[in-house]
Amino acid sequence: MRIVAISNQKGGVGKTTTALNLAACLSQLGVRVLLVDLDPQANATSGLGLAQEEGGSIYSALVEGADPRQAIRSTRLPNLSIIRSHQELAGCEIELAQSGNHLGRLKDVLTPLRESGHFDYAILDTPPSLGVLMTGALAAADELLVPIQCEYFGLEGLSKIVSVVQQIRDCGANPNLVLEGIVMTMYDSRANLANQVVNDVRNYFAEICYQTVIPRTVRLGEAPSFGKSIIEYEYSGRGAQAYRALAEEFLARRSGAAQAAAAEESPAPAEAAAA
Ligand SMILES: Nc1ncnc2c1ncn2[C@@H]1O[C@H](COP(=O)(O)OP(=O)(O)O)[C@@H](O)[C@H]1O
Ligand SMILES: [Mg+2]
Repeated sequence: MRIVAISNQKGGVGKTTTALNLAACLSQLGVRVLLVDLDPQANATSGLGLAQEEGGSIYSALVEGADPRQAIRSTRLPNLSIIRSHQELAGCEIELAQSGNHLGRLKDVLTPLRESGHFDYAILDTPPSLGVLMTGALAAADELLVPIQCEYFGLEGLSKIVSVVQQIRDCGANPNLVLEGIVMTMYDSRANLANQVVNDVRNYFAEICYQTVIPRTVRLGEAPSFGKSIIEYEYSGRGAQAYRALAEEFLARRSGAAQAAAAEESPAPAEAAAA
């Protein structure tokens, strides 16, 4: 199980929309996904039409030491499971900060899930602040995916999160954390500025920037109020198409990386012959 944090300390940039719909689209491609809602606002939980339930969230595992496997719930989508959030999670900031190991706590909680072999990916939706929950997510994750809004201030937030990643690596909490990707969201082709931002991000972050850009659509904004992922709400609309393309690009990058790693491990025929 690879753990992917969807983070950006800015609010309203499309983290939850991306976490939920990427998870849904990956599950539809046959990937076994666990969505973990780490935001006390519980938008990913309600966006999938699920109720908050005291004692049934990630909070119990994080603070009360409950078995995290007990908190896993299935969803309407066959390969998608979720660990819900609850507003009580807001208290975590203080409760975990008082415990010794607040940075490593989520990582410990996710370890039995990682070892269970039940999931291919855990996707973590994180709150919009640099608090204990978000930094804990970065300490637990293998990879970080950063959604940014196609607006001028979108770029400002990016440099901040790049420096936070560096701090998480340097302090030893998670030396292997990879800033895997940047996804541009809420793109409006009529706005000149949006095109400028897309070009700038592609220039500065050529390697990690996703080709897929998520458009601003009315349906993507509406779907959560019906408790549905975009593929359940409007299967063939532009929003669903974009998130499907993102899921495919997400998987294609990984199979590309796996091939490159395999090629590095086994010497090329010419090298092998020379040795
Ligand atoms: N591509 C989009 N098109 C239209 N509305 C969007 C889009 N992405 C997100 N939204 C809406 O914008 C708001 C903020 O998005 P959200 O994913 O909740 O951001 P975050 O989790 O970063 O705070 C929500 O109301 C959401 O429904
Ligand atoms: Mg959110």
